[in-house]
Amino acid sequence: MAVDLNNYVASIPDYPEKGIIFRDLSPLMADGEAYRQATDRIVQFAKDKNVDMIVGPEARGFIVGCPVAYELGVGFAPARKKGKLPRETVSAQYSLEYGVSELFLHKDAVKPGQRVLVTDDLLATGGTIGATIDLVEQLGGTVVGCAFLIELKDLKGRSKLKGYDVLTLMEY
Ligand code: PRP
Ligand code: HPA
Repeated sequence: MAVDLNNYVASIPDYPEKGIIFRDLSPLMADGEAYRQATDRIVQFAKDKNVDMIVGPEARGFIVGCPVAYELGVGFAPARKKGKLPRETVSAQYSLEYGVSELFLHKDAVKPGQRVLVTDDLLATGGTIGATIDLVEQLGGTVVGCAFLIELKDLKGRSKLKGYDVLTLMEY
């Protein structure tokens, strides 16, 4: 039976700052059945897309993307923060509330023409996933879908994903 994934999201008021309600997905990931059902829904979304590779950003994009990659029988490549990847990389900057950050991907992580699904736990402003898409496209990959567990509607991240096929399992 399908579980209501919303029952596995903890909402924490005033974290990390007053006025913010933090959506914590660790209860979902701690529950085998909920985690499996969330993973299965992303697998279904990806199934007819002929995905060659999954790319997810540090750190929670790994938790979402790796079980999907396992189930589809494709590889996973991590997009990581500065100083974490040991070989040649491409990089992409994105805006934070204050300042900028940068993500990196190994140059051989995606081959030109490969069809890539990008995954993360949560879509907020869209900065992180925008940079992840940029990395894939710099390497000649085609982003065939973007999958998230949660979308924070007020932050309008979806506006950065026009033209991409986007799946979000829960909206707040
Ligand atoms: C969080 C979250 C997403 C991103 C969403 O990651 O896991 O990756 O923010 O925000 P955005 O849409 O505004 O970019 P965070 O940067 O906190 O890193 P972490 O996963 O390593 O904790
Ligand atoms: N939860 C988890 N990660 C986040 C959130 C949130 O509410 N907002 C931005 N990143």
